[in-house]
Amino acid sequence: MATVGAQAFRGSILHFVDDPLHGEERSFEYFDDGVLLLRDGRVEAAGDASLRAAWPEVEPVDYRGKLIVPGFIDTHVHYAQTDMIAAYGEQLLTWLERYAFPTERRFDDPAHAREVAEFFLDELLRNGTTTAMVFATVHPESADALFAAAAARNLRIIAGKVLMDRNCPEFLRDTAASGYEESQRLIERWHRRGRLLYAVTPRFAPTSTEEQLRQAGRLLDEHDGVFLQSHVAENRSEVAWVAQLFPWSRSYLDVYDRFGLLRSRSVYAHCIHLDAADRMRMAQAGAAMSFCPTSNLFLGSGLFDLEAAAASGTRVCIGTDVGGGTSFSMLRTLSEAYKVAQMAGHSLSPLRAFYLATLGSARALHLDALIGNFERGREGDFTVLDPQATPLLARRMRQTDSLAERLFLWMMLGDDRAVSATHVMGQRQSPRAAASQR
Ligand code: GUN
Ligand code: ZN
Repeated sequence: MATVGAQAFRGSILHFVDDPLHGEERSFEYFDDGVLLLRDGRVEAAGDASLRAAWPEVEPVDYRGKLIVPGFIDTHVHYAQTDMIAAYGEQLLTWLERYAFPTERRFDDPAHAREVAEFFLDELLRNGTTTAMVFATVHPESADALFAAAAARNLRIIAGKVLMDRNCPEFLRDTAASGYEESQRLIERWHRRGRLLYAVTPRFAPTSTEEQLRQAGRLLDEHDGVFLQSHVAENRSEVAWVAQLFPWSRSYLDVYDRFGLLRSRSVYAHCIHLDAADRMRMAQAGAAMSFCPTSNLFLGSGLFDLEAAAASGTRVCIGTDVGGGTSFSMLRTLSEAYKVAQMAGHSLSPLRAFYLATLGSARALHLDALIGNFERGREGDFTVLDPQATPLLARRMRQTDSLAERLFLWMMLGDDRAVSATHVMGQRQSPRAAASQR
């Protein structure tokens, strides 16, 4: 077999082929001494190390002793909030006023946006995250800066300019017409350019007029394959405010539904204070719930009901929600997800947790034909986890005898230190901007 553009990686390999909820044993493939073969950045095969014989002249990169998993997918994060992560003392609505809005104001400056975008992407990659669904700010330049930085690294990023035409400071306000036009220009410039995808991004119902929500629906109708991202039912005061602003609505989610914003490729962060009818509607529409546990705990928003989400058949994925969230690490995010489930008396199994951070999120985004596992033809984005990353992890790992136990330790005790390497379309990534920004 010709090996032009061929790469091989040897190590333990894990990927998912189905949701562990449908039966754990059949949901994944694991090769203790495995090899991942890529051609031109895409998966040719993943299997036992004996597969090497197919390409005898390709010397594998040696990741023996480590675990190769598909790159993590962060389905909800605000790059412009990087500089206000861990801001003290407020809950959602006052936190937005006091911290988020002033921080986002600076993104009218393209140089600032570029600098933060580079740092943000470095941070994703250091944490093993290879795909993210990202809020920029209201400024179209902020989306341009992120897309340009992601294009230079060949990253699969979904992002959009925030739409926000009321109930926010003047300096962050667009209009229904300008938001529509700016989004349309960004879609033309970036959507499906290389690996980039556009998401129409109304911040949340309280900061958009009905006309702006209508225009958001129009953008989705007019552009094939474009996503929608927003927030819903995060905080009790927010829910009460939405009921006042949209008195005709049955529920907060119903506001989005009324404007055609509930469909496949719609991703709603939080989804905490929903009822059964809302969940059923999410499932029917093919929309996804992004569970953001570090943010929900940090902002005191509430506990996402993972069991009810699964029972409704809704697509569920995981998000860090930085800067409301407190870590870029999907491992740390999974550990908080585990604790949130515990508060409801359920255990999030380590296999399901890793599924949610990889194939589950790819499915939620309708991107599972491209990313999320190592089936043939998938894009070669992967993360290499080190069981010896810290003295405690190494010590505790020595006492395990199953894959599930090891995964659980990575998610409970791991963070960026446990990520040995991150590869994008086969290429190992090294932080770019880090040296100048420390
Ligand atoms: N709701 C509206 N805007 C935001 C935001 O920036 N972060 C979070 N966590 N919730 C929001
Ligand atoms: Zn958010």
